[in-house]
Parts: sequence; C-alpha cells; structure tokens
Amino acid sequence: MYSKSHQVEFEKYAKNYDSNAFIQKKVAKELVQKLNFKPKTILDIGCGTGEIYKNISWKIDRFVGVDCSSSMCKLHPQSKNIEIICSDFESLEFVENIKKLAPFDLLISSSSLQWAKDIGEVFKIYSKLSKKIAFSIFTNKTFKAIYEITNRESFLPSFDSVYLLSKTLNNCIIERKIYKMDFVDNLSMLRYIKEGGISGGNRVLDYKEIKYLLNNYPHSYLEFEVAFIIK
Ligand SMILES: C[S@@+](CC[C@H](N)C(=O)[O-])C[C@H]1O[C@@H](n2cnc3c(N)ncnc32)[C@H](O)[C@@H]1O
Repeated sequence: MYSKSHQVEFEKYAKNYDSNAFIQKKVAKELVQKLNFKPKTILDIGCGTGEIYKNISWKIDRFVGVDCSSSMCKLHPQSKNIEIICSDFESLEFVENIKKLAPFDLLISSSSLQWAKDIGEVFKIYSKLSKKIAFSIFTNKTFKAIYEITNRESFLPSFDSVYLLSKTLNNCIIERKIYKMDFVDNLSMLRYIKEGGISGGNRVLDYKEIKYLLNNYPHSYLEFEVAFIIK
C-alpha cells in the first residue's frame, strides 16, 4: 500500500492532522487502553504526531518512534526519554539499526501499518523485537458506502487478510471494530476524506465522483473498519 504519494500527503497535512484525525485519536486511545501491563520501553511504528505517546499515563524509560514524514516527526512530543527517528519503517537500514535497540517491552503501531508494502513481512521482522504487540490497522470496509457507490475497490487491506497474517504472530487476539463519524453535510465529509490521513495520497475519487457524492451520498456519516491485534 506504501507509495511516495502518501508520504507526500502526510508531509502536506501534518499540521492539520491533529485537528482532523478524530477516529485515529480514538483508535490510538483504545489501543493503549487494551494493554494489560505498563511497558517501560516502547517502539511505536508510524508514530506520527505522537497519539500513542500522548495516551501513555505511566512513567517510561524509553520511547522510540519511527515515521517517514519529517513534518509529522517534528510535531511529536519531545523529551530526553523519547527518540523519534525519521525513516521508512520498511527500509532494511532502519530495520538493522532498530534491532540493536531491541528488545522492547512493547511494539505498538496505530493507524499506520495499512500503508506497509508488505504487512506480513513487517509482522515477521518486528515481532522478533518484542514479546508484546499492540497494532491497530485500518481495513477495507473503511469508507464502505463510498466504494459501493463509486464501484471502486479500496486500497486498504481486508480484515480477513490481516486476520490471516496475524496468525504468524502466534497467540494474538484479533478484533474488528466499526466506527461511524457524523458530518453536517457532504462537503465537510469529502473534505475530511482528503485531509484526514486515511486516503494518504491515494486519489480515492475523481472530480465526477466527488460531484456525484456531493449531491447523492446517502448517509450523514462515514464508516471506518479497524483491526486490533493484541499479543
Ligand atoms: C494515520 S497516521 C497515524 C499516526 C499515529 N500513529 C496516530 O495514531 O495518530 C500514519 C502515519 O504512518 C506514517 N507512515 C506510513 N507509512 C510509513 C512507512 N513506510 N514508514 C514510516 N512511517 C510511515 C505516516 O507518515 C503517518 O505519520
């Protein structure tokens, strides 16, 4: 799913991300709430502007975050126990370097792994760095009605494919959750899709479709589907 365009998009919308990412914020909060322990060392893959870090209420020794968008990295909270690395989490160089900092008490990633070129490979490589894992991944029933109306296929992975891949993590729990977000009108809904960090530079809709949806989208909400994986 990774493309240069989504990297460019995250660069462009970094400063709006915190005010637009309502669902991602909810998801990050719920992901942290699902932890049944208080890890002292954490690796956050696709850390963005720090939604995971902001939800950690206990004292930690070390927090390492990786994100390929320098604008997102710059907005991450800073402190002496936080290390933010601006890199592609799938690059071999980064993977080799991060192995030197392992093991971590927790490997976490919220709303980012759907962008991986190869989610299975990310699971395989990163699961060696920690016994405990918490992932949330957007899946392809996100914007379901829009895809049905426009007859397009989502670029997000299906829940079933993520479910199958999660089997390689051994003894993890996987759960599907649907979220709905209400909008006052179709224009604000379409604007949200553009700036919300879910389409991430993949041109979801063309001009004709946007015009059609503006007048004919049948709901007052957008749907989001998220896979939670906890080990
Ligand atoms: C929707 S944001 C989520 C950010 C944060 N985890 C949160 O919950 O708000 C996705 C983030 O993943 C990052 N990202 C996507 N693909 C990446 C990759 N291959 N390497 C590093 N970062 C990546 C983007 O730059 C972006 O900051």
